Parts: sequence; structure tokens; C-alpha cells
Amino acid sequence: MMNDTKQYALITGASQGLGKAFAFDLASRRINLLLVALPGEGLPAFAEQLKQHDVEVHHFETDLSLRENLYALADDLNRRFQVFMLVNNAGKGGTTRFEMAPLEYLNGIIELNILATVQLTRLLLPNLKRQGKAFILNVSSMAAFSPIAYKSVYPASKAFIRHFSLGLREELRAFNIVVSVVYPGPMKTNADVTQRIESQGFKGRIGLFSPAAIAKLGIEGLLAGRANIVPGLANQLNRWLMGTLPEAWVIRMVSKAVKKELRNRN
Ligand SMILES: NC(=O)c1ccc[n+]([C@@H]2O[C@H](COP(=O)([O-])OP(=O)(O)OC[C@H]3O[C@@H](n4cnc5c(N)ncnc54)[C@H](OP(=O)(O)O)[C@@H]3O)[C@@H](O)[C@H]2O)c1
Repeated sequence: MMNDTKQYALITGASQGLGKAFAFDLASRRINLLLVALPGEGLPAFAEQLKQHDVEVHHFETDLSLRENLYALADDLNRRFQVFMLVNNAGKGGTTRFEMAPLEYLNGIIELNILATVQLTRLLLPNLKRQGKAFILNVSSMAAFSPIAYKSVYPASKAFIRHFSLGLREELRAFNIVVSVVYPGPMKTNADVTQRIESQGFKGRIGLFSPAAIAKLGIEGLLAGRANIVPGLANQLNRWLMGTLPEAWVIRMVSKAVKKELRNRN
């Protein structure tokens, strides 16, 4: 039974990194929040902290890569809340030789980055459609614009997000639902990513933004109805180069930078 008629924005992966920055940004715009992250990562305390912005905040600790958890969460949300904005942010990746990558690692990326995004979007769609005007922001990556060696399935998962989102955008236009994709370059969100960015030296800093800056650009772009949000001039130039130079050169160049991470680690 729906007893809460307020509208909410739902953010996945909201306990740290970019998801946390989205939560701060939306709370500062006085938008009510539904936050999702894995259990035991401080989400309840963060939800309490956000209430200082005079917004309603509810939190849900669950593993979105497990289909039964995701279905149960979507069911609960659809019964209890009006969701007018969905931010599909939770995602993971890494750098490793494909032959060394355990299957659980590869499955984990596909389950979270691809399956959870598609399933949550599909299950919440009737709810979003009811809102009069609604918004979906999917978090891709600059890695979506070129295949990259030693990143295994991560760049392909982010290219999937790009194609899925832009097709859906066209389809949902008729229902007054805006779909946007944001493509962050490097962000020092957690210790692992920070170490990887720093090991790339100067190249790792090209297009670097803080999570707060990306969250702001992402939400502004979404509310303005933009399809593709590529943050900053360096990333825009990078995207243009990746689409213009011969593909084989681009793949070799971006892969060389990533290979350096492996060498610095070994
Ligand atoms: N950092 C970068 O340089 C970079 C660049 C381009 C794109 N991106 C993209 O930006 C997004 C956010 O990345 P980030 O760097 O902020 O990541 P992060 O710091 O690792 O945070 C990931 C968030 O997702 C949550 N999460 C992870 N696995 C989950 C699962 N199975 N179920 C539910 N929640 C889960 C984590 O929850 P817990 O805290 O509970 O673990 C955390 O809140 C991702 O889609 C990533 O691909 C990042």
C-alpha cells in the first residue's frame, strides 16, 4: 500500500565514491532520497547525516548483483515509494590479465554493471512512468569509447551502458522520461582506483575530476535533458580523438597506459 506520496530519487552504490557525491548533490537540491549499497559500509549513518538537508532519506543495504535481492528491493520500492529519478551508479572494474581473472571477478562486473542496471530500470519503469516527468541517469565511463586491454570486461560493460541508455532514451521520450549517460574520466574515489590513477603518472591525471564535480555535472546535464554528459574539455577532446584516429592506434595507446599499472603492481 503506497502511503508515502512524496517523490524520491534512487541512487545505487550510494555509500561511497561517486554515489555518495550524487546523494550530497541531490540532498542539497532538497530532493528526497532512497540510497542503496552493500551491507556494513556505513549507509545508515550517511542517511542520517543527509537528513540535515531537510529531506526524507531511506536506505537499503543489499547486494544488487544477486537477482533475488534486486527483485525484492524493486518490489519493496514500488509498493512504498514514488520514484521520479533513478541513478544507476553502482559499478566496479579493475585491471588484470584476462587469463588471470577468476570467473567470479568477471561475473561480478557483468552482474553489477550490466544486469543490475537493466533489471532495476525495467522493474522501476512503471513507477517512473506514473510520475508525470521522470529521469534516469546511467553512469558509464570514458572507457566506453574504446576497447582496452587488461581491463577485461569493464570497458565493454560501459559501452553496453551507453548503447542501452541511448536506445532507451529514444523509446521513453514518449513517456516524458529523460535518459542521460555520464562518462566520468578518472576519479579518486577509493584506495584501489586512486592507486591505479597514480600509477599511470601524467596520463592518469588527464580528465581527472572530483566525484563532487562529476555528480554536479551529471545532475545538471540530466535535468537539462542532455543525452551524453562528457565532463570537461580534456575528456571531450579525448572522446573526439578516440572516434577520429584509427581504432587500432587508439586501442594500442590506451592499453599501453593500463599495462603500466600492471608493471607498477608486480
Ligand atoms: N572511479 C573512477 O575513476 C571511475 C571512472 C569512470 C567511471 N566510474 C564509474 O562510477 C561508478 C561509481 O564508481 P566509484 O569509483 O564511486 O566506486 P566505489 O567507490 O567503489 O563505490 C561503489 C559503490 O557501489 C556499491 N556497490 C558495489 N557493489 C555493489 C553491489 N553488489 N550491490 C550494491 N551496491 C554495490 C558500493 O557499496 P559499498 O560501499 O557498500 O561497498 C559503493 O557504494 C561506477 O559505475 C564506476 O564504474 C568510476
